[in-house]
Amino acid sequence: MTIEEKVRKTLAELGVAAASGVEALFAEVRAALDAERQALVARGAADEAERDKRCKELRDRWLARKNGLLSLLDENWLKKAPRELKPAVGRQFNELRQLAVSMEFEGLVKVVPIQRGMSRQLDLSLSTQAEAPRAALQDLTLPGRRCPLGTIHPIMQTQREIEEIFLGLGFSIESGPEVESVYYNFDALNIPESHPARDDWDTFYVDDQTVLRTHTSPVQIRSMEKYGAPLYIIIPGKCYRHDNPDSTHSPMFHQIEGLAIDTDITFADLKGTLDFFAKKMFGSKVRTRFQPSFFPFTEPSGEVAVSCMACDGQGCRVCKESGWIEVMGCGMVHPEVLRHGGIDPNRYAGWAFGLGVERFAMRRYDINDIQLFYQSDVRFLKQF
Ligand code: FA5
Repeated sequence: MTIEEKVRKTLAELGVAAASGVEALFAEVRAALDAERQALVARGAADEAERDKRCKELRDRWLARKNGLLSLLDENWLKKAPRELKPAVGRQFNELRQLAVSMEFEGLVKVVPIQRGMSRQLDLSLSTQAEAPRAALQDLTLPGRRCPLGTIHPIMQTQREIEEIFLGLGFSIESGPEVESVYYNFDALNIPESHPARDDWDTFYVDDQTVLRTHTSPVQIRSMEKYGAPLYIIIPGKCYRHDNPDSTHSPMFHQIEGLAIDTDITFADLKGTLDFFAKKMFGSKVRTRFQPSFFPFTEPSGEVAVSCMACDGQGCRVCKESGWIEVMGCGMVHPEVLRHGGIDPNRYAGWAFGLGVERFAMRRYDINDIQLFYQSDVRFLKQF
């Protein structure tokens, strides 16, 4: 007689009339439950859906309120037990019920195809019978998991865009050290120790004679020494200043320097080149404005502004109602600077400019806080 048949009969019908008979009968039921559980574990499942289905079947078979084996057992054995056997049946029934409930059927069966992430321990819990379906389901030709590729940082995108424009004009790209001597960062650029302009570029001193460069201008001198004239270069790179971080300042930022040295170079060349550059960068409708300014290494010096892209120069919140946005400093290379670079100022003239890449990128992408560039927040970066 199967367990199903037995639980549909009363104890009297099964011929059980003593406590010892009750114990033997329940031992038989526990063995059946255990055997079914073992068989399920050994069999395994091909996927999660099948696993869930098999676990539910076993659980329902034993614990379903209606027609579950334990419900039938309760109905036919416990409730209909003679008074003298009730305590023994009750005790055995409770033990059986606890055993069945504690089996946690849902966690019993493991999905067989072992994927990355499934622990070795789980693997070992499967019997050898489970090996066959696993081997069949493992597909070694499946591609591995790929690390998602990032994008180029918006600062670098902007830098490369600017580089492209000047490369198209025949300039080449130069670079120099970020840890720079005081001589190249200041003295050679016509900023002697006592000059008040040094305060504008106060920086991080490594020692008395060495600084983290405050601008890319020292590479002007290094390149003049290296190549002489004529010279058409741009110099992108990191700069460092003792500036507190806020929405437009960072102690580390990027600049691009431009330098053109040749015979008969005039301010008109500077204006024409930067106007062309601004139109390439911000659109053909953009106008440029040159205002007098001061830099010790250029004479005359200027501040370049472009007409506001947001309002087309009418005045708005972006340009603080002025219609213009300042984008860089520039000027004719000071004769003293040419001399420091080993170039004869009586024969050659030059112009130079320096712009902040972050500020350009902020204009370009309408970003109002420079700090966003350095926070490595993927939600921000993946927009570019
Ligand atoms: C200079 O650094 C000059 N060397 C530029 C120059 C080169 C003028 C050649 C003439 C000829 P200035 O200190 O203004 O100039 O800095 C240039 C740009 O760097 C600024 O317009 C700004 O865009 C950017 N910049 C300066 N300090 C910071 C900072 N702390 N954070 C972010 N950007 C900055």
